[in-house]
Amino acid sequence: MAESTAPKNRLVAVCGKGGTGKTAFTAMMTKVLLDNGHGGKLLLIDADPAMGLPLALGVNVRRTMGQIREDIIRTARKGKQEESRQLVDKLDYMVFEALEEMDNFALLAMGRTDTLGCYCPINDILRSVTETLASSFDTILIDGEAGLEQINRQVMRRVDTLIIISDATSRGLQTAAQIKGMAQTERVIQCERLGLVFNRVHGNEELLKQAAQDMGLEVFGYIPQDENIAHYDLLGKPLMELTTSPGLDAVRNIVEKRIFNERFS
Ligand SMILES: Nc1ncnc2c1ncn2[C@@H]1O[C@H](COP(=O)(O)OP(=O)(O)OP(=O)(O)O)[C@@H](O)[C@H]1O
Ligand SMILES: [Mg+2]
Repeated sequence: MAESTAPKNRLVAVCGKGGTGKTAFTAMMTKVLLDNGHGGKLLLIDADPAMGLPLALGVNVRRTMGQIREDIIRTARKGKQEESRQLVDKLDYMVFEALEEMDNFALLAMGRTDTLGCYCPINDILRSVTETLASSFDTILIDGEAGLEQINRQVMRRVDTLIIISDATSRGLQTAAQIKGMAQTERVIQCERLGLVFNRVHGNEELLKQAAQDMGLEVFGYIPQDENIAHYDLLGKPLMELTTSPGLDAVRNIVEKRIFNERFS
């Protein structure tokens, strides 16, 4: 049978307590997929309004989805129906404008939105345009916030794999348990597979494994404390430029053996 050329469309989201290494993990996962070529056509989505991912990837973002949302709200508030209608017609194009296309991957930053209040119809339209855009990629990696609401409201209603990053602290584990509840009980987002990655680990793997087991969470792997990662961050150097390092090696192992293993390729 001829091999299908349809996009594989594998959706992977990264979440977890603030500062645990979500962005570092997403950037290193990108690096691994670019190195081994298993990601195919690759889309990165920065769903965190603080927007750390562009820096970690070495990409300069000119326009965000938040800015597009602001434009739409501003035009709609002027109340000119014709203008609003034209804007809706141009939405696909506007979202495309926010897509930063590099040689080997593309990046979409959700960014911040300054207008408070619920603009559900606008969020719904933008999310559906984002979902359509994402459907033409083989792999979509989403760098999220601690919670899942932001991803659900503005990016995607479903993902294949949700990776929770935790450090070796009880707060990190508590957040992981909350995220598990959001995904599996409250169903804030639909997800097929959920697992934990422990970051900045200095031993204690057995204790962490037990804690994850007690929560009913699969462990995808452990990443050691790695001074190269901290050093790159201090210098503002993109983590994508790391070539070899214990942290990157651990991420490669997790990505190749647990996330993009045969079940998902
Ligand atoms: N394995 C590691 N070894 C050493 N430093 C690390 C490691 N992982 C992440 N860091 C450092 O920890 C800090 C937080 O990492 P990062 O920004 O990736 O976390 P985050 O979860 O995305 O944070 P936020 O919630 O603010 O978005 C950064 O300074 C990063 O360089
Ligand atoms: Mg981050």
